[in-house]
Amino acid sequence: MCGIVGYVGEKDAQNFLISGLKRLEYRGYDSAGIVTISENGKATLIRAKGKIVELEKKLSKNKNDDKIGIGHTRWATHGEPSENNAHPHKAGSIYLVHNGIIENYKELKAELVSSHDFKSNTDTEVLAALINSFYDNGKHPLVNAVVQALKLVKGTYGIAVVSELEPEEMVVARCGSPLVIGVGHDETLVASDASALVGHTKNAIYLNDGEVALITKNSIEVKTLNAEPVSAKVEEIETNLAAIQKGGYDHFLLKEIMEQPESLSETLRGRVDVENNTVHLGGPGLSQDELRSIKHLVIVGCGTAYHAGLLASYYIEKFTPEITVEVVIASEYRYRDAYIPDDSVALIVSQSGETADTLACLREIKKKGVKTIGIVNAIGSTIAREVDGGTYVHVGPEISVASTKAFTSQVIAMVMFGLTIAQAKSVKSSILAPYIKEIAALPEEIRKVLKDNSEIVKTIASKYVDYDHAIYLGRDTAYPSAMEGALKLKEISYVDANAYAFGELKHGPLALVDDRFFEIALLPEGPLFEKAVSNVQEVLARDGHMIVITDAQEFDLPVENVVKITTDIKIFTPLLMNLISQLFAYYTTVAKGFNVDQPRNLAKSVTVE
Ligand code: AGP
Ligand code: GLU
Repeated sequence: MCGIVGYVGEKDAQNFLISGLKRLEYRGYDSAGIVTISENGKATLIRAKGKIVELEKKLSKNKNDDKIGIGHTRWATHGEPSENNAHPHKAGSIYLVHNGIIENYKELKAELVSSHDFKSNTDTEVLAALINSFYDNGKHPLVNAVVQALKLVKGTYGIAVVSELEPEEMVVARCGSPLVIGVGHDETLVASDASALVGHTKNAIYLNDGEVALITKNSIEVKTLNAEPVSAKVEEIETNLAAIQKGGYDHFLLKEIMEQPESLSETLRGRVDVENNTVHLGGPGLSQDELRSIKHLVIVGCGTAYHAGLLASYYIEKFTPEITVEVVIASEYRYRDAYIPDDSVALIVSQSGETADTLACLREIKKKGVKTIGIVNAIGSTIAREVDGGTYVHVGPEISVASTKAFTSQVIAMVMFGLTIAQAKSVKSSILAPYIKEIAALPEEIRKVLKDNSEIVKTIASKYVDYDHAIYLGRDTAYPSAMEGALKLKEISYVDANAYAFGELKHGPLALVDDRFFEIALLPEGPLFEKAVSNVQEVLARDGHMIVITDAQEFDLPVENVVKITTDIKIFTPLLMNLISQLFAYYTTVAKGFNVDQPRNLAKSVTVE
């Protein structure tokens, strides 16, 4: 959810902590803090409400060259965003940063109030006090105190702990919230996301749930909570510096929208063979027999990942015979008593690979003995490691909270998975060929659509900045695309935007149409085009303020604005229309003057329930 960083080595810890937090700021950002400890055990704690710049302002008055420290950006779950609730939290001589939620904090707190003077409303301070109660003023090693405390904790955590009494070591642990240890020369770094380590080291150890590590500048000792030693694997960090910088754009969101031709090409690399009309996905690890026997797909995701699943399901049903596809919202599905028939495969869709609800579904589904395939972006993330097989979408780091490039690639990765099933089921090549041809052509078509329409969309968006309500409309494959468009607009521009299937309009939502609302209709050419045009007429007859996005060049209804996209694509047009929705949300938000990359109340990766 939020971010953790840690440093122990020979350099200035504060420098790394601040720069690392800036890289992680997109994950959660209501407050932040760092603590460093000097060689003789003096701690310098700095915390601030708001963005990292607020912390930086305070840092200038508290600069030191301590060689060990931990830091945190917070996305509040317990207690309002304030300096007092910001991490690190102190108990006795220890300091703790924590991502996640301690579910039994109330019970634990009741036992600890007599021995610890609580200064915050957080669950995290309870954990700090608990560790301190076992630490007993340094009578026991810090790592033992941490382990004893964690054995009593219910919930999720990624933590880093330091002590004034042992200023040369740090203890980190994880359960349900990611933690990566960077292995350097005479320095060891810690982060909740490998992007904070880029440029410092290429080698990392990804902790698993239930593991705890004792770290010094030149040693890393990993154990389970039951004290069994773990021989941790050092893996290479694949991200590079360019991928986590804005590259000349004003915002990460615009950069991520504009880099979709390249990011989709990465998704397709080595997987599409247009000459032979085939796709090859190595990752799922299913044999031809297994693929042939699939009768049912469950697609699980949240937010944008859910919309990607929904859009992919429309396509998969079109070209794969005798298969049912069910697309579910992870936070609901995890508590449903859903029956999953034999011969099912579950696709677990997540950009971050860390979303708590999606991860919980994955575990539930695995318990039922169903094969799980990840459609994940973040390499080495928890979901990627726990699925039975998977296809990375390879779009590179997505920093902006609003997901854009991941969506496009998730849809295509799932369609490619559908195509591999269809191939195994011997679906005629003439049926699959148009899909494969279009997938291969998409990166260039995306480039064209972005280039041709960016300025037009910017102008149109400027006309709608004063509206607080929007309705997105579409039929068939344009409907999930409309849903995604509405989510994008609402999450960054705070416009109350909702999507409806065009056919549903007269079953209720049509009553909304008045001057407070504008409508965005997605109208791809195809069998349902005329029906959608009739639906547009219905809205116009009620004086709707309509914007139409279409690839039909002859569209001439008197709507307020039209974005006509010129493309050879016929099947995946809703993906191209979604680019227009992405740009529209972006330019609306810029015009409104809101924080594009870090919308209020949200965080990039939702690792709490
Ligand atoms: C997308 O713009 C959202 N911020 C959000 O809906 C996101 O897609 C969702 O939280 C799922 O995240 P994941 O793909 O990392 O699992
Ligand atoms: N539950 C903790 C808090 O509210 C940690 C939240 C987080 O993951 O940022 O402070």
